[in-house]
Amino acid sequence: MKIAIILAAGEGKRMKSKKPKVLHEVAGKTVLSYVVDLCTGAQMDKTIVIVGHGEDQVRARFEEEPVEFISQPVGEGKPYGTGYAVSIAADEFEDDDQVLILTGDTPLFTQETIDDFLEFVAEKKLEGCVLTAMVSHPFGYGRIIRGANSNVVAIVEERDATDKEKAITEVNTGIFAFTGRALHSTLNRLETENSQNELYLTDVVKLLVQEGHQIGAYTIGDEEEMLGINSRVQLAKTQAVMRRRINESFMEEGVTITHPEIAQVDYGAKIGRDTIIEGPVHIDGDTVIGEDVYIRGDSRISGSKIGDHVVIESSVIESSTVEEGASIGPFAHLRPNAHLGKNVHIGNFVEVKNSVVGENTKAGHLAYIGDGEVGRGVNIGCGVIFANYNGKEKFRTVVHDHAFIGSNVNLVAPMEVGEGSYIAAGSTITKAVDAGDLAVERSVQKNIPGWKKKQK
Ligand code: UD1
Ligand code: CA
Repeated sequence: MKIAIILAAGEGKRMKSKKPKVLHEVAGKTVLSYVVDLCTGAQMDKTIVIVGHGEDQVRARFEEEPVEFISQPVGEGKPYGTGYAVSIAADEFEDDDQVLILTGDTPLFTQETIDDFLEFVAEKKLEGCVLTAMVSHPFGYGRIIRGANSNVVAIVEERDATDKEKAITEVNTGIFAFTGRALHSTLNRLETENSQNELYLTDVVKLLVQEGHQIGAYTIGDEEEMLGINSRVQLAKTQAVMRRRINESFMEEGVTITHPEIAQVDYGAKIGRDTIIEGPVHIDGDTVIGEDVYIRGDSRISGSKIGDHVVIESSVIESSTVEEGASIGPFAHLRPNAHLGKNVHIGNFVEVKNSVVGENTKAGHLAYIGDGEVGRGVNIGCGVIFANYNGKEKFRTVVHDHAFIGSNVNLVAPMEVGEGSYIAAGSTITKAVDAGDLAVERSVQKNIPGWKKKQK
């Protein structure tokens, strides 16, 4: 069997967070989720996550994922360290199993790297193998110590390294493959004689070498893949790499991103060909965007479906659907469950919530469309308000096709406005309007001639 063990029990002290480190997000996806996906991709028979600090939060978040959890007791006086974390899973694998070990805080490894590493281990029939990387700044990582014949003989942590060892630029990425046998024969012999009083997994290497086993090393040249998240600064660095990767993959598929360094497209989003993303646009992972769409300015789109040829400028769109050819903004807000039909225009400072808006309808300026059903070809004037709430309950407003709602009209729900009817500007409408009628609700204007002159 192929078994993966992901170490995720640490507190992540350097994050100074209330939340476990592995639940922080990189491009809209938790750090741990990237690592779990690598194991799924490598077709592991079982993936075990070692949890400890904040384990309830981790378990809850990964309830539906194809992983099993083992709790590492944590707290004062409890043994600690990556070696101890693996040892508590020792009953989960047999001697003949292949065990892949990953740290839960390194989300940037590619599937290709993991697959190539496992292939290398299988080909060479190694008892143990470490994935190493050549880096220009090895600070903080375990250094790979190679012996006379250049075989790996030990791994030394930064805090335990001599100056000479610190100068080594080949580091431990935190990924290992061992046979179950190799782990069973060494884990119970780890010792805490190091600067952190921890049981280091890296010491398994030394013990195996002492027993005459050859430890393999599969080395990658890419420095970015192994970036680990131990602090907020590293979280930002990792996120920058992931965002660049995501943006570049969209560009390769025919999406124009004019400023890739500030466009934030989350993992999982879908964007069609010839769409242009311009400026500090944020697209959440659960969003699907069509072809030839133009999104610019400070826009955020989450949980939404955007059709082809839509134009969006400086607007926020949440959990909504926008059909082909519609234009939105600048400064519009589609709140959850807005559905705009083809060629709808929602302009400056217009808010739409839980409403269906039919084809070719326009609301160009300063309106609120809430709990509405608006037909096709309707004109919603400047400042129109769907008054949908009486302080306790919400009511619906239905506006039939081709109605013309003048500026500054209040439609007090529940309300029905008939097909092709007109509502005069400034009216507060409380009674239904029949098809083809004109509704006017305002007092007669009175002009007082020469009023100014009569003032003192
Ligand atoms: C570790 C390696 C280091 C390597 C680096 C790569 C050791 C001793 N050091 O250092 O050689 O270069 O990763 O990123 O292995 N964890 C547990 N239980 C524990 C302790 C840790 O589950 O008792 C988990 C942590 O939650 C974390 C992972 O193991 O996800 C690594 O622990 P961390 O403390 O971050 O190790 P590093 O100092 O980064
Ligand atoms: Ca780490």
